[in-house]
Amino acid sequence: MFKIHADHLLTPKGKAPKKGSEMKKIYEDFDVDIYIDNQKIIDIKKHSITDHVTFKCKLATPAFSDAHTHIPFIGKRSNEFYLRNSGKTYSEIHKEGGGIYNTVNKVRSASINTLVKQNLKFLNLFEKSGVTLLEGKSGYGLDIQTELKQLKTIKYLNELSEIKIVPTFLGLHAIPHDKTKEEYINEITNYLDTIKKYTEIIDVFCDSGVFLPDDIENFFIIAKESGFKIRFHADEIENVGATKLAVKLGAISADHLLKISDEEVNLLSNSSTIATLMPGTSFYLGESFAPARKLIDSGAAVALGSDFNPGSCPIFKPSFIMHLALRFLKMEPEEILTAYTINSSYILGIENWTIEPGNKCDIALWNTNDFIDLAYMFDSNFLVGLVVNGKVKFYEAV
Ligand code: NIG
Ligand code: FE
Repeated sequence: MFKIHADHLLTPKGKAPKKGSEMKKIYEDFDVDIYIDNQKIIDIKKHSITDHVTFKCKLATPAFSDAHTHIPFIGKRSNEFYLRNSGKTYSEIHKEGGGIYNTVNKVRSASINTLVKQNLKFLNLFEKSGVTLLEGKSGYGLDIQTELKQLKTIKYLNELSEIKIVPTFLGLHAIPHDKTKEEYINEITNYLDTIKKYTEIIDVFCDSGVFLPDDIENFFIIAKESGFKIRFHADEIENVGATKLAVKLGAISADHLLKISDEEVNLLSNSSTIATLMPGTSFYLGESFAPARKLIDSGAAVALGSDFNPGSCPIFKPSFIMHLALRFLKMEPEEILTAYTINSSYILGIENWTIEPGNKCDIALWNTNDFIDLAYMFDSNFLVGLVVNGKVKFYEAV
């Protein structure tokens, strides 16, 4: 048993997910000891001098949970960043065979060994920024062998890393060049049992130039019948009705939502589908931001993620994503903490990501008393330690 002595404790409490005004309710306490034993938080009490080994911090929060990343991938696309800066759009680059296809070529030719080693480095970057739970997905194979290679890579990453990566199948990320949409969707449908060995979650890029609602509705009905939970990359480039279909099919999350209207805001707020927002992508592509304020004010549950990928958002740092969420999504700091912890972990299948007795929540230890400082000075690293799976890592005395 050991304890964390926190000058300031901030955590959501209770049942996930938090919707609308519930997102702002954060439990706060001062000068407390958080007792940890056998990987679990067992008690939280006012600080007292005891014999237990004690790690001190100015602020303790749940570690961050990133609801949406595109790990594992390999290679960079800085040439596309440059092209977009000269006026080319993300969609134009995709139509010309770059974008997602550029990374597909690199992932197809990489060995699992290479993929694992490169993506362990990424996991290390996430962890040193306070993220200990994140999503990873396939989607850079566009053929079943390579999609499975990505899912196997995630399995190895989980074996080799202390932080947890929850896999999603995103085979329908783009249309492969050697097949029609229908042929590819049929092929994926025939492999659902094999995919099930690696993941319980299926995502699709439902947008203009990729898969439209009519293309994928049946596929998703079959996937749901086979026991998969579903997620959507929805209405990121154009409003194609993806969010409507996500709500209709009871998706666990609809992600991006840059182009949704008030109609979809209302649908989401009256549903159990969580709106996953990634302001890093809007910033990076120079696009509009999702209507976060409208979503929260009308009662929707919002989660945050990085969308870390080599094309539309090579940003992994939660401090910068939180900076963007404050400035451009106009989210309150408390809402951001909820969105980056209990709501995002809920999408990843973990319901008790709060600092409360009985929970197995990882804890981030910070060297500032004010949560807002993480976003304010996004380029500084205030992290002075982490509790991951009940063990203390990277601790620096404060
Ligand atoms: O979430 N929108 C589709 N997929 C990613 C980008 C993937 C890529 O460009 O490599 C996204 O923005
Ligand atoms: Fe994405």
